[in-house]
Amino acid sequence: MAVSQLSLLLFHSLLAIATITSAVAAATPYLSPTTLFPNYQKMLTTFKIYTYTPPSQFTSTVTTQPESLFTTSLLASPFVTQDPEEAHLFFLPFHPDLPTRSLARQVRELRQKLPYWNRTLGADHVFLSLSGIDYSSDRNSLELKKNSVQISRFPTTSGHFIPHKDITLPPLNPSPLAVPHAPPANKTATYLGYMRADGLPEESSIVNELINDPDFVIGSQPSDGLGEMGNSKFCLFVYGGEVTWIGEAMAAGCVPAVVADRPIQDLPLMDVLRWTEIAVFVGTRGGARGLKEVLRGVGEERYERMKGLGAEASRHLAWNAAPQPHDAFHMVMYQLWLRRHTIRYTRREWV
Ligand SMILES: *[C@@H]1O[C@H](CO)[C@@H](O)[C@H](O)[C@H]1NC(C)=O
Ligand SMILES: *[C@@H]1O[C@H](CO)[C@@H](O)[C@H](O)[C@H]1NC(C)=O
Repeated sequence: MAVSQLSLLLFHSLLAIATITSAVAAATPYLSPTTLFPNYQKMLTTFKIYTYTPPSQFTSTVTTQPESLFTTSLLASPFVTQDPEEAHLFFLPFHPDLPTRSLARQVRELRQKLPYWNRTLGADHVFLSLSGIDYSSDRNSLELKKNSVQISRFPTTSGHFIPHKDITLPPLNPSPLAVPHAPPANKTATYLGYMRADGLPEESSIVNELINDPDFVIGSQPSDGLGEMGNSKFCLFVYGGEVTWIGEAMAAGCVPAVVADRPIQDLPLMDVLRWTEIAVFVGTRGGARGLKEVLRGVGEERYERMKGLGAEASRHLAWNAAPQPHDAFHMVMYQLWLRRHTIRYTRREWV
């Protein structure tokens, strides 16, 4: 059996388990609905991050990219402390697209100058890297890669992401759609699926098949997609293509159908959201026919639940120029808060 078939099979069994579990528990988009909000409140009052002196690049206020919005929000937030002794984590304000070699040099300088890196070999340190960093033999970049929490864009390059340690940022739509607050309750969808023409990976044959399929509508203008989106049951996100509007699709009641041939481990808010209850995951091996079978196979009851949970979860994927409670910035902070426990070696000079 091919690996992708196997992973699809695995995925379907996971979905089955998730479906059974959720039939027992109350419907919730969260992985830990009882602890999430109390923990979040605790984070608001307790969490402290020490930031090394930001380089001059960060005086810019580009707010169309999630990583710059994250950094400016963090630096202006009450989470920042100048007292390293009360800090849970240490933020390395590296420019997010520095090559690995420059990162290694900066880590080397920091570890010589200050004691904090050596205490945990970087495990309580956090850094941004757009596409994630690769393994290298240099000690400094190796510790950064293996120990520190990496925050990058979704999706990451294969091999540049370590599950359970690293985080991806919820995507930020550069041309946001004005999605109404509540999705239409009783939507009679005309189309099975909606796709956006821009940013679809060209090499994807499934995309080329679907372009001529009457069950699918292709939006050409990102700005006028709202009507077509609301008229479709599922919104298609081909892994590796444009995903910046996934939160808006969810808010509009269009259930995400994520097309990928490998298990996805780098979804944003992976520690917070129960993605299998919000989105349908499907491989490309069955072609357009297989994809449509999977989508048609989603029962009405499950579909309505996914739509509701997606709309409920969408607010956590939304970025704001001035951060709002439970928005993308705060949920990324929450994921960092979950990663705050590290063992610090006491500094001791062995003789
Ligand atoms: C941290 O450790 C490295 C190598 O083990 C050492 O060269 C460096 O001086 C140490 N840094 C501090 C601030 O003591
Ligand atoms: C939606 O449709 C169902 C069944 O067709 C109906 O019972 C319900 O009242 C409708 N809800 C709204 C908000 O119109």
